[in-house]
Amino acid sequence: MIAVTGASGFCGGHVARAADAAGARVVGLGRRPGPVGEHRFWDATAGEPDLTGVDVVVHCAAAVGDPSPGSAAEALMHDVNVVGTERLLRAAAGRPVVWVSSASVYDPRLDRSLVAEDHPRAGQLNAYGRTKAAGEELALAAGAVVLRPRAVYGPGDTTLLPRLLSRVRAGTLLLPGPDVRLSLTAVENLAQAALAAAAWPPGAYNIADAQPYQRDAAVRAVLDAHGVRARIRHLPLRLARTAARLAEALAAAEPALSRYAVDQLAHPVVLDLSRARARGWLPRHTLQDHLRGVGPDRRGPVSRGGPPGPAGPSR
Ligand SMILES: NC(=O)c1ccc[n+]([C@@H]2O[C@H](COP(=O)([O-])OP(=O)(O)OC[C@H]3O[C@@H](n4cnc5c(N)ncnc54)[C@H](OP(=O)(O)O)[C@@H]3O)[C@@H](O)[C@H]2O)c1
Repeated sequence: MIAVTGASGFCGGHVARAADAAGARVVGLGRRPGPVGEHRFWDATAGEPDLTGVDVVVHCAAAVGDPSPGSAAEALMHDVNVVGTERLLRAAAGRPVVWVSSASVYDPRLDRSLVAEDHPRAGQLNAYGRTKAAGEELALAAGAVVLRPRAVYGPGDTTLLPRLLSRVRAGTLLLPGPDVRLSLTAVENLAQAALAAAAWPPGAYNIADAQPYQRDAAVRAVLDAHGVRARIRHLPLRLARTAARLAEALAAAEPALSRYAVDQLAHPVVLDLSRARARGWLPRHTLQDHLRGVGPDRRGPVSRGGPPGPAGPSR
């Protein structure tokens, strides 16, 4: 039996469905039920999950977002992503655990044009990156397999592509700095890795699509697939950073633009996939595959009013 935390969410839902399709018994752990299998209530801030009968755990649950420093959301993020991980690992009691982390743990101050798993994990720009890094430290120390996907997209994505589309204002999408190469991750590739990884040696593994994308061409393809006619313009990086600092200083909860969001889009970040590939994992899905399936009835929310604003964060 496989337990999937966060099965009610985007990535966890795909993992749960893929496990179910592969014939596994699935139990979803979280506050809300997942798309398949048994549901056992678990609030990561409140106690340990019930893992009776479970053979392997895939931990996808996390508090995500870009909360303002000192906010209640930031404290909650620590409680879910770090203390919740402690609770989960205690309950797992030696069972194999696949812990879904994020490429946001990597030090953004260093060159990331080809990032291997030994890239330093420090200097994260927000609580999300910091708490994911702290949570995965615990997971690694407990002998878990840690997956580090970057910018996951696919059916049911409530963050990445919808947020990008929502930043189109007055027929313009502003992207910070010049075009760069970026790793993105089809959720199907992540789900396949999450299921296979229980048999991999403990440690960290980068997860992304087989080839990185040119940022501007990928964004262009997303806009076209969603029927959005918009010009892509480049906002000078210094200006984007200043706007982000200002937005962060003024925001009470979650800023409309942050230094993290600017960093995610403005610098080349390509994940070296050699380690996961060496375990036989083959990322087959691409952004083109996903966009072919985007019809008019599956298009995300698109705001076309107001002044142009820089695109928001990926994870
Ligand atoms: N999406 C990306 O681009 C991306 C990129 C890299 C890594 N990741 C990682 O992938 C994982 C899943 O992210 P996602 O994009 O699928 O996010 P999501 O759709 O927001 O799902 C988050 C899940 O976490 C669960 N959760 C949140 N607070 C909880 C709590 N207090 N107790 C129990 N469960 C809680 C939610 O379940 P309930 O609300 O039902 O409790 C939900 O199922 C995360 O670990 C994230 O760091 C995502």
